[in-house]
Amino acid sequence: MKRLLVANAKGGSGKTTLATNLAGLLAGRDVRTVLVDLDRQHSAARWLERRPRGFPKIAGWTPDDDRDEVEAFDPQWAIYDSPAGLHGKRLDRAMKRVDLIVVPLAPSVLDMDATVVFLEALAEYKTVRKGECPVALVANRVDPRTLAALELENFLAAYDLPVIAHLRAAQVYVQCAATGAPLFDLPRSRAEPEIDRWAPIRAWIGAHLR
Ligand SMILES: Nc1ncnc2c1ncn2[C@@H]1O[C@H](COP(=O)(O)OP(=O)(O)OP(=O)(O)O)[C@@H](O)[C@H]1O
Ligand SMILES: [Mg+2]
Repeated sequence: MKRLLVANAKGGSGKTTLATNLAGLLAGRDVRTVLVDLDRQHSAARWLERRPRGFPKIAGWTPDDDRDEVEAFDPQWAIYDSPAGLHGKRLDRAMKRVDLIVVPLAPSVLDMDATVVFLEALAEYKTVRKGECPVALVANRVDPRTLAALELENFLAAYDLPVIAHLRAAQVYVQCAATGAPLFDLPRSRAEPEIDRWAPIRAWIGAHLR
C-alpha cells in the first residue's frame, strides 16, 4: 500500500481539492483507494457522501487521533486529507503513516510564508531529509498572466522539490467539490483544459506506483 498525505499549514490552499481529485484519479484507474480524512471539518468525508452512485468506488475513513485502521480496507493507495495548521504531534502522527507528501499552495504571500514554515517542519523528519518520503509541490489557483504567478515561480524555483502541477483557478473545481465528482469522472468537455494540467501529477503518481 502507498500512503499519500496532502498537507500544508495554510488553510484554503487546496488540500481537500487535491486529495479528493487524487482519490478520484486513482479510483478511476481501478486502483483500490481509500480517502482518509484527518480534518475535523470532514470536508473530504462529506465529498464522498455526495459522490454519485455508479462512480468508481472510493472507500472513506475518518480515523481518530491514535488509531489508523486503513489497512482494513486493503487499499492499494490511501490518500490522506489533512487540516490547516497541521503541526506538532498531529504532524508527527501523520508522518509515521505516510510514504509521499503533496503540498499545494496558491500564488499569495500568505501561502508562500506558511509554506516556508511547513516545508521547514517537514525537513525535520529524517524520512524526508533522506528522500525516503518524497515531497512534491502543486501550484494551485495559478493565473499565469499575473505578477503573483511570477512571484510564485521564483519561490518554487528556490526549492529543490518537484513541482508536479500548475492548476488554474477554475470553476470546475468548485463543481467537483459540490458534486462529489472528481475532474476525471466529468465529461471531458467540462473537465478540459484543466484535466490536462494533471498530466505531471499522473506521471509522478505512476512513478511511485511500485
Ligand atoms: N484551483 C481551484 N480553482 C477554483 N477553486 C478552487 C481551486 N482550488 C480550491 N478551490 C476552492 O477553494 C476553496 C478552498 O479549497 P480547499 O477546500 O481544497 O482548501 P483546503 O486547503 O482543503 O482548505 P482547509 O484548510 O479549510 O481544509 C474550496 O471552496 C475549493 O472548492
Ligand atoms: Mg480541506
